[in-house]
Amino acid sequence: MAHHHPASRRSSRRDSEALSRRPSIDPSRLIPMDKVFQIPGSDDFNVVFVGAGNIMFGSDEGPWNHSFRFEHKLGPRLKVVALIDPNFDRATTVLFKKRETFVRSAYEKTRIFKTLEEFVESMLPRDRPRAVIVGSPPMFRGTTRPGRDIELQILRHFPGVALFIEKPIATGPEDEIAEAFKISQAIVDSGAVCSVGYMLRYLKGVQMIKQIIEDNNLQVMATIARYACAYEAIAKPDWWDKSKSCGPVVEQGTHFCDLSRYFGGDVDISSVTAHSLEWHENAGQLHKQTIDESLIAPENRIPRVTSATWKYENGAVGSFSHVVALQGRNYSCELEVYADGYQFKLVDPYVQPVLYIRRPGSDLEETHRFPDDDPFFSEVSNLIDVIEDIEEDPESATILSSFEDACKTYELTWAIRRASEKSRKNV
Ligand SMILES: NC(=O)c1ccc[n+]([C@@H]2O[C@H](COP(=O)([O-])OP(=O)(O)OC[C@H]3O[C@@H](n4cnc5c(N)ncnc54)[C@H](O)[C@@H]3O)[C@@H](O)[C@H]2O)c1
Repeated sequence: MAHHHPASRRSSRRDSEALSRRPSIDPSRLIPMDKVFQIPGSDDFNVVFVGAGNIMFGSDEGPWNHSFRFEHKLGPRLKVVALIDPNFDRATTVLFKKRETFVRSAYEKTRIFKTLEEFVESMLPRDRPRAVIVGSPPMFRGTTRPGRDIELQILRHFPGVALFIEKPIATGPEDEIAEAFKISQAIVDSGAVCSVGYMLRYLKGVQMIKQIIEDNNLQVMATIARYACAYEAIAKPDWWDKSKSCGPVVEQGTHFCDLSRYFGGDVDISSVTAHSLEWHENAGQLHKQTIDESLIAPENRIPRVTSATWKYENGAVGSFSHVVALQGRNYSCELEVYADGYQFKLVDPYVQPVLYIRRPGSDLEETHRFPDDDPFFSEVSNLIDVIEDIEEDPESATILSSFEDACKTYELTWAIRRASEKSRKNV
């Protein structure tokens, strides 16, 4: 197995040749957190965290927790110079907890600010960040409009700093999608390293599918994706309100629309068709909601089922269903990818990923399991290695989700929502 030994730093800056590396990673290079060598040295690695919520500091809702992965990747080099969150109390509480633990050296000097501008105004030169990690709600990002333009603020104040942005890249009105592509262009023009949080791309199972497709020069013929969430566990009122979170396809199904695109390629957006089961239809009654849906305006309540099909630009067909029906905690998610002679079926990517493969010449299904796989860590690990320009060989570190790619996923999810709304019966 390839280990991440201390490696040399490339002398030249990343060039366009390196940027055009194939967007995949050899699955054997996706190494669990406890097996990765930390890059030695005492040079501090300054980061700014934007958002002090679940994605940054963890929760009962799932395994996400970026701070934890940064701590493991960077070890004592990690210095969180600022935590930006308008909710000062929440930020104070998470910082207090960190300072109680053995990772306190990363948080000892962390200062809390309500906005990035406030940090910039009082920043000491030694606090200049090498990376800004953005985990604020998407309604405050992905546009050129004041207050919703964190990416442009970062590019303006910290030219050249690396960016990590959570998915989805925005949740705004459909007519603002063009703005997101403008942000993407600004990021590309600035030359900044940028990774978007579609972590499922870093799953070993996903990279195994990618490798077989590349090695055998396969053409994907179809992607079939199903995302059934456990709604009982979703206690955030905003999630149930389309005016806030843009609906479950844009906010959550986005992970599987993105994976579908990762295999199928660009989508002919004009081909997207969709149907929904709405909250007011008989079959749409739910009995275990933990939020009070009557507080949400009827026109903003979310559909229970959204089912879409589309054409990819190479002719392949994509299909996706998002279902709000399950109770309990675990989601039920599956993605199938078909090519001549091949079926790849990825099951339960969030909790216990299993990949079933059927190959030419056989009716048997192989089963692959991936214990210890942590796509959240692989995502952070690859980002840091790309920022540090560490190289053993040209394919050792790769960012699998660019801002532009994420814009295209956002555009697809909006097209699905819009198509389902057009085809529904009105109340
Ligand atoms: N990849 C994944 O699996 C995954 C999992 C969870 C969340 N996410 C994404 O992470 C993002 C945040 O989700 P969350 O669950 O952490 O939400 P959250 O509500 O738990 O936390 C968001 C935090 O951002 C703060 N905030 C609000 N406005 C802000 C602003 N303008 N600047 C800085 N901070 C601001 C809030 O006060 C809050 O503390 C969303 O885009 C979500 O989709 C991704």
